[in-house]
Amino acid sequence: MTCGGQWDKLTASRLATVPMTTTNDGSPEANSAGMTDADVLVPIKDFQIASGWASPASAGARARQCCEQLEEGRILFFDRIPFVFFKEDREFLLSQRQSGSGLHKNISYRPRENVLRGAAGNAREHAQMLEIMGRYSTEVMRFMERLLEPYASQLALDYASFRPEEESGRKLPTRKRNDLLHVDAFPTRPMNGHRILRCFTNINTTSARVWNTTESFAALAARHAEKAGLARIAAKGSRRTGPLARQIKEAFGLKVADHSAYDRFMLRFHDYLKEHEEFQINCPKILLEFPPGSTWICYTDAVPHAVLSGQYALEQTFIVPLPALLKPELAPISVLEKMAGTRLSHH
Ligand code: SIN
Ligand code: FE
Repeated sequence: MTCGGQWDKLTASRLATVPMTTTNDGSPEANSAGMTDADVLVPIKDFQIASGWASPASAGARARQCCEQLEEGRILFFDRIPFVFFKEDREFLLSQRQSGSGLHKNISYRPRENVLRGAAGNAREHAQMLEIMGRYSTEVMRFMERLLEPYASQLALDYASFRPEEESGRKLPTRKRNDLLHVDAFPTRPMNGHRILRCFTNINTTSARVWNTTESFAALAARHAEKAGLARIAAKGSRRTGPLARQIKEAFGLKVADHSAYDRFMLRFHDYLKEHEEFQINCPKILLEFPPGSTWICYTDAVPHAVLSGQYALEQTFIVPLPALLKPELAPISVLEKMAGTRLSHH
C-alpha cells in the first residue's frame, strides 16, 4: 500500500461533518475543522520485523520522528502486523468467541504477574490463552523498543487486552461506552502526568476496526476543560490518601491509589466528554478505518477516540514517563498546567 493509493480512496469515502448517528455520506471533503485522516494517520512503510528501519543511516532520525509524531497527537499506522505473531495464535484467538466459550468482555493480561482477567474456557484453553498473550506482549514490547528507540529503556509494560466482542451495538453504561469520543484515564492506576501509549492490532480477517477521532487534546482542553472543572480540581491540589482512609481501604483489600489533581481531572474529563451529548453529536469527526491485519499506535490519553465497530483486537498498553518525552510541552499535563496556572502533580 503506497502513501496515496488505498488511503486516498478511504479518505474519499470518509467524512465528518455529520453527527455520529448519521451514516457516511461519501463526501470527499474535510470535516468542519478542515481535517482529514491524513492529518492524523502516519503510515509507516520503512520498518520491517526482521531488519528494522530500511535505511540504517537514518534509523535514529526516523525513530525520533515517530516519537515526535506520537507526541504531536498522531497515530502511527502499519498495514500489517509489524511484530512476530503466529498464525496459530491468531486462529486460536478467533476461535475462542466462535466456540461459544462464554466470552462477553475484554480479556486483560498482566504481563508482570503473568495472569489473565476475564478469561472463560476450560483449564487447557486458559493455559493456551495465557501463553499466547504472554508471547504477544513480549513481541510487542520488543517491537516498540526498536521502533521508538528514544523511549526504549523507559517504556514500562502495562496491561494487554484481547477484545473479542463486536463493538457496534454493545449495551454499556455511558461512562463505559467506547463508541463515544473520549481520552483514556485509568481509575485504578494514577499516571501523575505520565503517558498512556497503546499499540492496537486488528486480528479480524475480514472486517476493519472503525474509529472516530476529532480535534487535538489542546483544542478539546481549550474548549471544555474549564467547564469540566479544571480550576476547581486544580485548587484542591494533589492530595495523598489520608492515613485513616488508607488503613480502611487496605483492611478491605482495596488498592490505595494516590490521585494527583491531574489524574482527578483526566478521570472527570473522560466522563465529561462521554456525557456531553452536544459535543458527541456536533464535534468535527474524522473516521478512521483500520483494515484486517493492521496495527496502529497512539497516545490514547491525548488522541480522542471512539470505536464504532470491529471485533477481535489485541492491545498492549505502555506507560511512558514524562522525562522520556521529546516534546514534554505537548503532554496533556503541560497543556492543563498552563491553563490552570499551577502544578497538577508531584511529577
Ligand atoms: C478504547 O476506547 O480505548 C478502546 C478502543 C478499541 O478497542 O478499539
Ligand atoms: Fe479509550
